[in-house]
Amino acid sequence: MSQSPQVDFEKIRSNSDGSISGMALLAFNEVVVNNPYFAAGGGLMLLGTSLALARQGIVKSLGFLYRQMLVDLEIPLKDKSYLWFLEWMSKYKNRSSRHLSVETNFIQHDNGAISTKFSLVPGPGKHLINYKGAYMLVNRERSGKLLDMTSGTPFETVTLTTLYRDRGLFYELLGEAKRMALKAREGKTVLFTSWGPEWRPFGNPRKKRMLGSVILDNGISEGILEDVKDFLESGDWYHKRGIPYRRGYLLYGPPGSGKTSYIQALAGELDYNICILNLSENNLTDDRLNHLMNHIPERSILLLEDIDAAFNKRKQTEEKGFTSGVTFSGLLNALDGVASAEECITFMTTNHPEKLDPALLRPGRVDFKVMINNATEYQIEKMFLRFYEDEFELCKEFLTKFKNLKLDNVSTAQLQGLFVYNKRDPKQAIEMIESLKNPNTVFK
Ligand SMILES: Nc1ncnc2c1ncn2[C@@H]1O[C@H](COP(=O)(O)OP(=O)(O)O)[C@@H](O)[C@H]1O
Ligand SMILES: [Mg+2]
Repeated sequence: MSQSPQVDFEKIRSNSDGSISGMALLAFNEVVVNNPYFAAGGGLMLLGTSLALARQGIVKSLGFLYRQMLVDLEIPLKDKSYLWFLEWMSKYKNRSSRHLSVETNFIQHDNGAISTKFSLVPGPGKHLINYKGAYMLVNRERSGKLLDMTSGTPFETVTLTTLYRDRGLFYELLGEAKRMALKAREGKTVLFTSWGPEWRPFGNPRKKRMLGSVILDNGISEGILEDVKDFLESGDWYHKRGIPYRRGYLLYGPPGSGKTSYIQALAGELDYNICILNLSENNLTDDRLNHLMNHIPERSILLLEDIDAAFNKRKQTEEKGFTSGVTFSGLLNALDGVASAEECITFMTTNHPEKLDPALLRPGRVDFKVMINNATEYQIEKMFLRFYEDEFELCKEFLTKFKNLKLDNVSTAQLQGLFVYNKRDPKQAIEMIESLKNPNTVFK
């Protein structure tokens, strides 16, 4: 018998019937059965197998016990309660937690200024909490590699584990988290922006902007508000006639005239949230637009900014062969196809109404169209008195100077800039009125 594990090919050849299976059998005998190394290995293997089996048995029984005694609750990133829960945790756990991660939000104030707020939320990892006497293990897991294919963000889940008998507390906890989150949003407007194909809240909910703080020309603000309110009360009328319950508004005019601000303030007035989509965004495609428009969070106004972008794209597609971006037909399809049982209010804005195709302005797509222009006398007066209360004389002076200088095409944003810069000094504002000649003046 050969002592080496090498195969004796002579023997195989002489003993075999020449078939391949016969040769394989011989080789197996030679290498495995008759070989002392392999015999010893077999023993070890058996031992290894039994240990592995025993281990598996233990794991299985532990798993069984685990299932009997513990209960998991998985909250995926996509679920509404995910953010509610993290907010709840951040209030609950900050003092004792050793592992926090920072979330930076921008907060916009009534006057449009923006400040930053950092909130510390529990970082990825395991956290043990005690909720109403029950211990819960919170595991926030972030997969570094796995990306959510739809949004391109790291995949995340939070799993809560507690004793089976305490499972009822999950409802209480989520309920509490929800109440806390909604309370924080009271009197506020949530801004949603698109994140891949879905809507995500952008920053913290903003304090509602008072409708009166956006000063449009005489009667415009009231006219829009009245129309929207009437629409919201006419659900039955639409349903009875089988007309899709939606209404489109187009605000057009030069930049800085308050279009975006007005729509945000209007959302606040109606207690609606707002979903903002910029059509000139690079990676927005027809498919995504369509999907987004059909998945708008409830009680939200859809705001499509820079609607003319879709018209440029149409030319690009035809002439230069561009394929990305929203096309004109994609926009029309998305507008026509919004199939929602609830009301759908769409606001569109553009600085270039001349670029719009008449097909967009058909009823059902745009039902209400209004120009929001540069500052008129009416607006200048109202704005001046809003910044400098009861300064009627100075207001007159400001207006006269404004007219004498033949300033035209001054945007309300420019006026705001001048008044904010001189916030306690209306006389200085009058002094500096000529700065309005240049729309790009930066007050320092
Ligand atoms: N009519 C207005 N009344 C009050 N503030 C205005 C008005 N127009 C512009 N603003 C201010 O100017 C800034 C830019 O306005 P925005 O709404 O973005 O203009 P648009 O969307 O028309 O380009 C904002 O800070 C806003 O508060
Ligand atoms: Mg705007």
